[in-house]
Amino acid sequence: MAQISIPLFKVFMPESAHAALKPVLESGRLAAGPQVSAFETRLATWLGHPDAAALGDASGALTLALYQAGVRPGDEVIVSPLACSATLMPIANLFARPVWCDIDPLTGMIDAGKIDGFVSEKTRAILVYHWSGDVADIAAIAVVARKYDIKLVEDASAAFGAEYKGRCLGGESDFTVYSFYATKHINCGEGAALLAKNADDVEAARRLRRFGIDYSSFRLLNGDLNPRFDIPVAGFNFPMNEIAATLGIEGLRHADRIVAQHRANGSFYETALAGMPGVRLLKRRKDSASGYWTYALLAERRDDLMRKLVSHGIGVQRLHLRNDAYSCFGGTRQNLPGVDEFDALNISIPCGWWVGEVERTRISEVIRSGW
Ligand SMILES: Cc1ncc(COP(=O)(O)O)c(C=O)c1O
Repeated sequence: MAQISIPLFKVFMPESAHAALKPVLESGRLAAGPQVSAFETRLATWLGHPDAAALGDASGALTLALYQAGVRPGDEVIVSPLACSATLMPIANLFARPVWCDIDPLTGMIDAGKIDGFVSEKTRAILVYHWSGDVADIAAIAVVARKYDIKLVEDASAAFGAEYKGRCLGGESDFTVYSFYATKHINCGEGAALLAKNADDVEAARRLRRFGIDYSSFRLLNGDLNPRFDIPVAGFNFPMNEIAATLGIEGLRHADRIVAQHRANGSFYETALAGMPGVRLLKRRKDSASGYWTYALLAERRDDLMRKLVSHGIGVQRLHLRNDAYSCFGGTRQNLPGVDEFDALNISIPCGWWVGEVERTRISEVIRSGW
């Protein structure tokens, strides 16, 4: 196999992280503390949202979001099968059932007009994944959620820096999750954040992330455990730690530059690959800006193009497999024409902060030379 010189994913690690970690490692406090609070404040400020609860990873954050949305054993969640397993497993972990919805094959994301047919008495939520950072038709999906009085949860794990009508994602739905997994725009090693429309839900997430404990009254002033303390709702254990938060804080210092480079690369491909035979560019909304985690596109004879890109040292893959095919979810590919079409053709090419003028030109030339 050829050596990959332009990877599809790369872990961002600023030099400053080394110095920033030293006092944390020596502080005697590694579990959640002041660094986690500082990360939450800086993240919320950067996203332009009032608050964000930091969590250990995005699948934990999605589990919490779905739980807070009222999803319980036997309930149903409407979702596209085309997503990361991290998006889908939280449904199974709550002993609920994904109901596979079709997508718009030009975006890779749930088509608001196709949801009605999948709503039942057991539906508690619609879960929308913003494909590789592209922005879903979230306002139209929110209208459907309101019509049936069900909750809307966004997996914006790949969509750091993406904007809908000039605002970072998180304003249109009940719960929004960002991932700070190692390969995301900004990383904490592993980490995530949960945003909510209702401020109380973020506070509730802070209790539920650690066994349901309200730490403001858990201890007495002398440090002893408060014997009168109660836990009214049992919680999970999805906390972020001080080391992860420190990495996140250092990453956030570079967020503007990172997001700008992802976007500049995405815009470059939009033009450089337009009209190319065998390539279909995705339909991206005029009122939104993609986060371009990767640059996603549809390619005919996909395997041939992937082989060619790899032979030129360029990282490429189909971004996610369809989850309805996994036996843990029943193992039956549903009859979803939009999913079939997108799944047969989708690939992702490098678009991140490590891709500059030289790299993106080379990638587009390799594609433009045919396969
Ligand atoms: C769509 C999506 N959701 C969530 C995640 C991350 O989940 P976690 O933080 O639990 O690893 C990923 C990871 O790459 C992802 O692609």
